[in-house]
Amino acid sequence: MYEDVKINLNPNDMPKEWYNLAADLPTPMLPPLGPDGKPVSADQMTAIFPPSIVEQEMCTKSWVTIPEEIRQHLMRWRPTPLRRAYWLEQYLKTPAKIYYKDESASPAGSHKGNTAIAQAWYNKQAGTKTITTETGAGQWGGALSFACKLMGIDCKVFMVKVSFEQKPFRKALMRTWGGTCIASPSEVTEVGRKVLREYPDCPGSLGIAISEAVELAVGDKTGSTKYALGSVLNHVMLHQTVIGLEAKKQLEMIGIKKPDIVLSCAGGGSNFAGMAFPFTYDKINGQDIEIIPVEPTSCPSLTRGVFAYDYGDLSGFTPLLPMHTLGHDYIPSSIHAGGLRYHGMSPIISQAVNEGLYNPTSVGQNECFLAAVRWARTEGWVIAPESSHTVAAVIREAIKAREEGKEKTILFTMSGHGYLDMVGYEKFLNKELQDFSLPQSEIDETEARLKAKGFPEAPIRRTGKWTPGNIDHSQYMDHGKI
Ligand SMILES: Cc1ncc(COP(=O)(O)O)c(C=O)c1O
Repeated sequence: MYEDVKINLNPNDMPKEWYNLAADLPTPMLPPLGPDGKPVSADQMTAIFPPSIVEQEMCTKSWVTIPEEIRQHLMRWRPTPLRRAYWLEQYLKTPAKIYYKDESASPAGSHKGNTAIAQAWYNKQAGTKTITTETGAGQWGGALSFACKLMGIDCKVFMVKVSFEQKPFRKALMRTWGGTCIASPSEVTEVGRKVLREYPDCPGSLGIAISEAVELAVGDKTGSTKYALGSVLNHVMLHQTVIGLEAKKQLEMIGIKKPDIVLSCAGGGSNFAGMAFPFTYDKINGQDIEIIPVEPTSCPSLTRGVFAYDYGDLSGFTPLLPMHTLGHDYIPSSIHAGGLRYHGMSPIISQAVNEGLYNPTSVGQNECFLAAVRWARTEGWVIAPESSHTVAAVIREAIKAREEGKEKTILFTMSGHGYLDMVGYEKFLNKELQDFSLPQSEIDETEARLKAKGFPEAPIRRTGKWTPGNIDHSQYMDHGKI
């Protein structure tokens, strides 16, 4: 019965090319804009990124060759298994078949290693000596610390303060791999000092941490310090597509032509993109696949944010990006899924949402942890709070399939393990977790603030394939019985 419980590929079956959805979207992407309001040039971007990364950021080809050395580094843990969640299916009495890519099976425990290796490798080719970065939950900072160690590069990580305090062992992990981890906002940068003067108890945000990391990279006039971003930008989405490309091969191996539903959680979007982009290509080419990015109700950039040009960080060091945003100065509430507390969203995903290719949804913390505990008690793995958003949405869909009597194939990414995130689990089990939904007035204020700053309005507005916070399946969750 359990013959497809774990579907493995051989190391050499790992993809040889990454897939670039930006090249195939029905409408061409809007360009990022520089301080002069003109599209950013490659030269401007090489101030913080090596040239080969800038080339990928602006790439217009659908397929990009993965250098063999990068493939060999990734083979430490790739291809990752595709697993079937038989025991959750049985628990839910659903006719749906639930498959998931296990990205927790990497040294640092999440999908982030896929781009960390690639970015560190390209930086090594360019002679970079130090890489600065931000991290939310600590997964990206850990993965990059490890990748930098492999490439002989120093790694400095600004970790959002609330997560730094909630997850002290993440810092120890980064240090174990040779990285340095600093709580953000910090006294190390001008940006950090300014935030602390105005808001001494600031819990931090990814937007602030990005500003701190970019400030250090720009400030090194020797050019040997570069910045690396763990999500949002096109090249990061590109590097993650190994996930979906492998999943396609694995489904083919068991005779499944296509999934019916593809889901994954989205912070800046790279986890979602990794699984979804190869299937988005199929959807653009006529296949019937429902694709769902999942985000927290407390940080709902895709489901409720405005689509506009906005900065990727607090201080406006980054170009203006056309994306769904809650405003670059938005500081999300201190939820346990630190990796999902980002005000913006990948421009490629934002545009695909505008084109009606995706149906975003959002989930509150309690429903997420309920799903995570249910997952642990059926499937066994203790998943990251970020991944629990995906599992909560998967449970909604599996119950819907039961109610409709349909044998749907559901596919998602289990983006990371949660063994260093137990404070959140404990709070949930003690019934101490708060849910938070962003008031509409704050979203309206964001739109007004962006307009008042004179940022160019992105020409495409939200197209209304969904309505804000529309998909409320919480009635399907039976909260009394875990
Ligand atoms: C385990 C895990 N899953 C998902 C995410 C969200 O990633 P992304 O920003 O790529 O959407 C993160 C971010 O840190 C994470 O740590």
